[in-house]
Amino acid sequence: MYYIGVDLGTSSVKLLLMDETGSIEKIVSRDYPLYFPKNGWSEQSPEDWYQKTCEGLKELTEGIDKDLVAGISFGGQMHGLVILDEDDQVIRPAILWNDGRTQKETDWLNQDVGTDKLAQETANIAFAGFTAPKILWIEKNEPENFKKIAKIMLPKDYLAYCLSGVHCTDYSDASGMLLMDVAGKCWSKEMTEICHIKEEMLPKLFESYDVVGTLTEKAAKDTGLPLTVKVIAGAGDNAAAAVGTGTVGEGACNISLGTSGTMFISSESFKLPENHALHSFCHADGKWHLMACTLSAASSNKWWNEDILHTEDYGKEQEEIQVLGENNVFYLPHLMGERFPHNDTKIRAMFYGMSMDTTRADMTQAVLEGVAFSMRDALEVAKSLGITITRSKVCGGGAKSDLWKQILADVLNIEIDVPETEQGPGLGAAMLAAVGCGAYESVKAACDAMIRVKETVKPDKDTAAKYDEKYAFYHKLYPAIKTVL
Ligand code: XUL
Repeated sequence: MYYIGVDLGTSSVKLLLMDETGSIEKIVSRDYPLYFPKNGWSEQSPEDWYQKTCEGLKELTEGIDKDLVAGISFGGQMHGLVILDEDDQVIRPAILWNDGRTQKETDWLNQDVGTDKLAQETANIAFAGFTAPKILWIEKNEPENFKKIAKIMLPKDYLAYCLSGVHCTDYSDASGMLLMDVAGKCWSKEMTEICHIKEEMLPKLFESYDVVGTLTEKAAKDTGLPLTVKVIAGAGDNAAAAVGTGTVGEGACNISLGTSGTMFISSESFKLPENHALHSFCHADGKWHLMACTLSAASSNKWWNEDILHTEDYGKEQEEIQVLGENNVFYLPHLMGERFPHNDTKIRAMFYGMSMDTTRADMTQAVLEGVAFSMRDALEVAKSLGITITRSKVCGGGAKSDLWKQILADVLNIEIDVPETEQGPGLGAAMLAAVGCGAYESVKAACDAMIRVKETVKPDKDTAAKYDEKYAFYHKLYPAIKTVL
């Protein structure tokens, strides 16, 4: 049988066809536009997601016996606000996870409602990218749209709805809405009241591997797939990526170098980190995880190469980088403001330390190092919470670069286990579909059977020591620049 994983990302949708042994048969992807209507805003059209997913599904399943497709599931960009009216029509473009327009609403939640109350209700505090502040923003700034809201959902849930006709979400993705009680796995009545919405507007909650339905007739027509295909709830992209890299069980770690950069630490039990320093969310295996998210990781590299250097040959730009740990140029990756560790929508990216002998390669290197330093921030916070991380998996587009993986190993001074594929969320989603269809009895069993590490990148002790000093300097830059903003 075949299982399809849909990785609904920020720059494209990637679709992956897998058989029951975990062998990846085909991957296709389709780009869609990302709109920045104002500085710091970020939107996409849910209709684009569905149309491109259908196009991609047709290409993905071309030439195979479609009756062998058992299930489809998702790993979706998290936190985005999708609102539908009473006819299930999209009211306005989705406001995405890296959109910074909600500073006022975020401050109101954290200061007036209070972080203690938020944490008691949801296990988390407010960040501008989370869903609840976006609902408050719509209420205040687009009252006509607010009045029309009949359903609220997350990006991948819109796809699940279009395919199955069911308004559903899963615990891992719903954790990032600031509307769900993460420990109790149910919607928080208090939070719905605080956001002036009704619980009926929220989708039904499922485990990531639960079957929510089968294809509707329209979806079967749109995709060319049979009505028998099961739709499985899926997960937020980071939880799906964790499944796709085998990051389950107590203390296992995965770093995703996607548009965002995340450090994901899986946990067998619910944890509430001191000072809410890390997000506390449900995992796609039925358990929990802690996570830090920096907003512009591989997107910093993409911006630097494509928008500034005008090249798509990232490898060539990296060829000249020979010496690690000695770069005097620093890069702060805050192109879209920053979630972790600053929770600051106003900060912007910065290069520091250029001199007359600085080269193009030094600046390219600084971008890779700046993102690695932001992951080091996450590692340090985890350490301060008593969590020991000695190794991590890695996935995402950035994980294609051997140089970036070495920089990561040296900056974090941990071993980086590289899975056979860097397709974390897409593979994880296909695995969730396989579990939902009964091919494996649990997510853990699927990970044990399907995920293999192909190599381990080890830190170089001398370089790691040099990077310790560089990191100490990097760490001083944000507070310094903050004094003049
Ligand atoms: C996680 C987060 C990002 C998006 C990217 O909290 O906001 O990783 O999920 O797609």
